Amino acid sequence: MYVCICRAVTTSQIQREATEADGKRSVREINDRLGCGKDCGRCRSNIKQLVQEAQSHSSQQG
Ligand code: FES
Repeated sequence: MYVCICRAVTTSQIQREATEADGKRSVREINDRLGCGKDCGRCRSNIKQLVQEAQSHSSQQG
């Protein structure tokens, strides 16, 4: 499913970026890497939430 329509970035791309690098990437870094959130900006709050969820899940797994 697309999170960022403008840049065609999907939920799974965000989740993968969020959990790589020991889950230490910031939302901003992820936006820079994928190019999302840089046009209309409507996706930004969804991206932030996805990143937080993905990183809290991955830290629970140790
Ligand atoms: S939907 Fe992501 S910048 Fe527009």
